[in-house]
Amino acid sequence: IEADRMRVSVIGTGYLGATTAACLAELGFEVLGLDVDEAKIEMLRSGRVPFFEPGLEDLVVSGLESGRLRFTTSFAEVAEFADLHLICVGTPQKDESGAADLSYVNSAVDRLAPHLSRPAVVVGRSTVPVGTAATLAARLAALAPAGEEAELGWSPEFLREGFGVEDTLRPDRIVLGTDSPRVEKAVRALWHKQIDGGVPFLVTDLQTAELVKVAANAFLATKISFINAMAEVSEVAGADVIQLAQALSYDDRIGGKFLGPGLGFGGGCLPKDIRAFMARADELGVEPALSFLREVDAINQRRRARTIDIARQLIGGGFAGSRVAVLGAAFKPNSDDIRDSPALDVAATIASLGAQVTVYDPAALERARAAHPELNYADSMRGAVTDADVVLLLTEWAEFREADPDELGRLVARKRIVDGRNALDPTFWRASGWTYRALGRQ
Ligand code: UGA
Repeated sequence: IEADRMRVSVIGTGYLGATTAACLAELGFEVLGLDVDEAKIEMLRSGRVPFFEPGLEDLVVSGLESGRLRFTTSFAEVAEFADLHLICVGTPQKDESGAADLSYVNSAVDRLAPHLSRPAVVVGRSTVPVGTAATLAARLAALAPAGEEAELGWSPEFLREGFGVEDTLRPDRIVLGTDSPRVEKAVRALWHKQIDGGVPFLVTDLQTAELVKVAANAFLATKISFINAMAEVSEVAGADVIQLAQALSYDDRIGGKFLGPGLGFGGGCLPKDIRAFMARADELGVEPALSFLREVDAINQRRRARTIDIARQLIGGGFAGSRVAVLGAAFKPNSDDIRDSPALDVAATIASLGAQVTVYDPAALERARAAHPELNYADSMRGAVTDADVVLLLTEWAEFREADPDELGRLVARKRIVDGRNALDPTFWRASGWTYRALGRQ
């Protein structure tokens, strides 16, 4: 198949799938996106993206206008249309065990395969426990009328929410697990512009490709929890974790990225990926190899409890009857995603302890309201902090980083702030009369 004539289907139109589909259309491919959720497909067809992702809506609209990007709910249609199928469905946490729920991935293969009557390449992009792809490859070959000519490879993605378009069009690396020359050829064709432009392309076996993804997220989570552990020590030892992190970052073997101490990681990926990784290691009989990730998770959870403690100290006792302003609901800035959001977790816990909690977030209010109707919501930062006994900055949106302490000081009942993300300048806020507290600093 010639690269520029290759037709691609993208199965699943969540963060990963919608971004992948729109970017591939932008690169010149003919793309058909599929989702089982009719409402989502209707929205995408009308050029609207069901979540907040900078730059994505413009790409969807131009893809639709060019005719290169279309959407459907029919597996028969994608099987008929595409030479290459990309599986981009979610693999959420299943239950308390932490294991990944593979029902969407399994169902994508089960529903696509019976329609594959000519040679086809299926490539998974979802994050899966190591060993999943080999099982799916066998299942595909067994269910597809094309038999062994329906081949499956695995190519994990590394995109960050909020930078999805950029990370898809200019990835750090492309990893593909396959031993099939045909699968390799198709994926090379898909990313030929990136590969020609110098992006490293690594071909591995299926298991290594699956592991690269979870190993990368486990490393990132570990790095964050490492610096948060240093924050715990700094607090009691009288040190300053921000200066500590800065000093560490000049060693380029360590580097400064993901060394930001604070409330810790959340979102739809890092927390559930480390838990699924541990669950899988357990199944494979190598549980001790990943037992350190249990500590990574525990350190991360402790930061939430610590933030609540600091707020309680500032109020001077219990939360009952107090007014608490929470700035931030999304799990990180530039996102409306509230999955495992540290900010909302803290807000909900404080509310359960008897405080009146008012939350403001520039993008995630609607989702937060649906998930936590017990909290109050304000439609501006000023609204949220008005009459507050304590302000908690829990997601470091630019709007909060740039807030004017004098102006906010005139609105609150008491000038007390917990900077859960080390996003503010303590000297500046203290000079304006605020009692400023942060994680890992004096
Ligand atoms: C993460 C990875 O960064 C991506 O490479 C990966 O592709 C993606 O998961 C995925 O598996 O799909 P994402 O969940 O979008 O991306 O968010 P990150 O930017 O990694 O942030 C994760 C969390 O870590 C956020 O809650 C953020 O506030 C927190 N964080 C990040 C810190 O607490 N400190 C830091 O220094 C950096």
